Amino acid sequence: MNPLLKKLQPYPFQRLRALLAGTVPSKDKAAINLSIGEPKHPTADVICQTLTRSLDGLARYPATLGSVELRAAAASWAGRRYGIELDPEREVLPVNGSREALFAFAQTVIDPAANSIVISPNPFYQIYEGAALLAGAEPFYVNCLPENRFQPDWSTVPETVWQRTALVFVCSPGNPTGAVMDLDDWRRLFDLSDRYGFVIASDECYSEIHFGKPPLGGLEAARSLGRDFRRLVMFTSLSKRSNAPGLRSGFVAGDAALLEAFLLYRTYHGSAMSPAVQAASQAAWNDENHVEANRAAYIEKFDAVTPLLSSVLQVERPDASFYLWARVPGGDDAAFARELFEQEHVTVLPGSVLARDAHGCNPGRGYIRIALVAPLEECLQAAQRIRQFVTSYLPT
Ligand SMILES: Cc1ncc(COP(=O)(O)O)c(C=O)c1O
Repeated sequence: MNPLLKKLQPYPFQRLRALLAGTVPSKDKAAINLSIGEPKHPTADVICQTLTRSLDGLARYPATLGSVELRAAAASWAGRRYGIELDPEREVLPVNGSREALFAFAQTVIDPAANSIVISPNPFYQIYEGAALLAGAEPFYVNCLPENRFQPDWSTVPETVWQRTALVFVCSPGNPTGAVMDLDDWRRLFDLSDRYGFVIASDECYSEIHFGKPPLGGLEAARSLGRDFRRLVMFTSLSKRSNAPGLRSGFVAGDAALLEAFLLYRTYHGSAMSPAVQAASQAAWNDENHVEANRAAYIEKFDAVTPLLSSVLQVERPDASFYLWARVPGGDDAAFARELFEQEHVTVLPGSVLARDAHGCNPGRGYIRIALVAPLEECLQAAQRIRQFVTSYLPT
């Protein structure tokens, strides 16, 4: 057995299940689950129809590199969205969702014999940590606190850690906080990468769920600062943008030399995308109408739900993403989530299960993550139940 498997932590939803085990929610209230970040809006017709029209592709082995047409569609989308020019031959690779890509990228970039460190924001998407551990690296967590706009505070990273750092994960818009990196944030990170030579993996899968101001992308920031894409790769996905988490489709773009190595790794890993999925993905990247409709549905939910919650909880609409990151009264997020489930049958994710104890605190403690993925009516009902709950909640 690979001994590194023992280092993996239980997934946040396993922790949530353990937390809620033994509680009996009120039977007269229908369950509302706002804990999982799984898009629930319908997948656009253009994707479903292209997928079904392309089933003849099941009779062929796909190339890991993906079709020329898909890479060209991804590059054109990035061009329209970020005003950047990507070479679809060398700077774009299709992936089966950003999750597998984030994981596999760490396996490509890390030298297991080099005693490397992988830096992760904290709280974070747990794949970063597992990817680092299974690559034989040591994770180092950088807290994202409200006093630093929920951005990682790089000044807390000791020089000795920077010297061993091979890879830094950033997530903008962030899960769970929804915070977006601005140009100065990118400038600081690029300066550090120039100084210490680490690779940046920029997870941008929530980039299209915003409230009118499209979040700055990592590649866009590099170009704005007059840089090339050296040591920088961005990860994007159709899961949230196009409500297609079951399609398992995204792409990575950036440093051509890193992508060449990544392609080699992926060829052995067997992560080519099905031709039918490639065709549907190409159609998805070429269409912006369904993305705008999707965004409008989230804006409607945030506009309705945020004022209801902000009158009883410390919470604001995020820069982007479909999460609310709310402070709970009393600071015990686990107790709050458990009692909310028991009394109101509403499931939210306690922030402490999304973070690790680091630098003297767990930066997720005291927060809950509310995913506004359910239909508007359900989100509204959940917000009303949360309000009701908070007004009588007595923290222990
Ligand atoms: C921050 C973050 N990155 C990546 C992913 C993976 O998404 P997918 O593999 O569907 O592209 C998720 C999924 O929830 C996420 O929250």
